[in-house]
Amino acid sequence: VSKVIKDQFMNGIILRPGQILSVEDAMNIAKNYEWEVELIHEQEINPFDAIVSAYSDAYKESSRLVQRPPVVTVMGHVDHGKTTLLDRIRKAKVAEDEIGGITQTIGAYQVEVRNKKITFIDTPGHEAFTEMRARGAQATDIVVLVVAADDGVMPQTIEAYNHAKTANVPIIVAINKIDKPNANVDLTKQQLASKLGLVPEDWGGDTVMVPVSAKTGKGVEDVLEMILLVAEVADIKCIPEGNARGIIIDSRLDKAVGPLATLVIKDGVLKPGSYVVAGSASGRVKALINEYGKRVKEANPSDPVQIIGFDEVPDVHSIVYAVDDLDTSRSLADFAKSQAQKEKSVTTKRHVRLEEFLSM
Ligand code: GTP
Ligand code: MG
Repeated sequence: VSKVIKDQFMNGIILRPGQILSVEDAMNIAKNYEWEVELIHEQEINPFDAIVSAYSDAYKESSRLVQRPPVVTVMGHVDHGKTTLLDRIRKAKVAEDEIGGITQTIGAYQVEVRNKKITFIDTPGHEAFTEMRARGAQATDIVVLVVAADDGVMPQTIEAYNHAKTANVPIIVAINKIDKPNANVDLTKQQLASKLGLVPEDWGGDTVMVPVSAKTGKGVEDVLEMILLVAEVADIKCIPEGNARGIIIDSRLDKAVGPLATLVIKDGVLKPGSYVVAGSASGRVKALINEYGKRVKEANPSDPVQIIGFDEVPDVHSIVYAVDDLDTSRSLADFAKSQAQKEKSVTTKRHVRLEEFLSM
């Protein structure tokens, strides 16, 4: 492999190990070595696969990996206090002068606890857990499961737990509303144990459960401490340099700036000027905007950031890849477009058949 790469380099052609060549190129290169090449099978390749496997190869070289801040999602039953808890954390940990900017927030924000960052995502939706994992990148590292101590384990508590479990994400339980007179922490723990099999540490289990009041702020610091502790054990890593990769957690068409996408960076460094692709959307990053509405010069792993510069609104939960040049981003986007069209035509066909069937 290295000889082929070296020889081609001498001819002015730059190849990478593992690169997939067209049949024509492969045959031309083979000629140089007097190899005989016979085409026996041709198969369309998904160019995204090559990118994905380049990242997974990089992850195998542990010396290239460094720790990154945990990305935390708060989940739980309706009205159990998710938003209040997030607001409380934000108020406790974000400087006053920045709070004004937060109202136009981007659905994700970062706080700093003893010089360690934590990224919180407001609501990523459930697919973020299962779908992302299948594609080798996950939106969330830790789930904070909020359970109100006056209400106990409810249907959506169970649903949220199941999603976190399927995705194999560590769970911290925040037993909330302990300020309420009818709060019953022990009963809530009992329900968590019997209904979900989550046994608290103080009962000899291994689930971290923190009693809190999002209203008064009691226990909120403990939640943050526990997040850092769980993050340390989970050993959350990234590839710190090179082309960035991230997950879109929100996107829309903005009247003033056009397609606007919020993402959380997973690997690498994203900068204005980077070429990006996310499914069938592609472009060059015109500006990166942080959670306070300020333009930034770069975004690093676990940072939430907005991108201006996509040619169309990318799908939420799609993965953004930074690539070397505009041609690459466009050809990847074209491939995604043609795949989407193929899928669409399959579903339309089915649809027509069903209609025909019904009219018979
Ligand atoms: P959804 O987003 O609708 O699922 O709800 P949520 O889980 O975000 O709950 P939210 O934070 O909106 O809180 C619901 C209600 O509970 C609000 O009236 C809050 O003020 C109240 N609440 C939240 N946390 C606490 C708490 O610790 N103590 C008390 N007493 N009330 C709380
Ligand atoms: Mg809410």
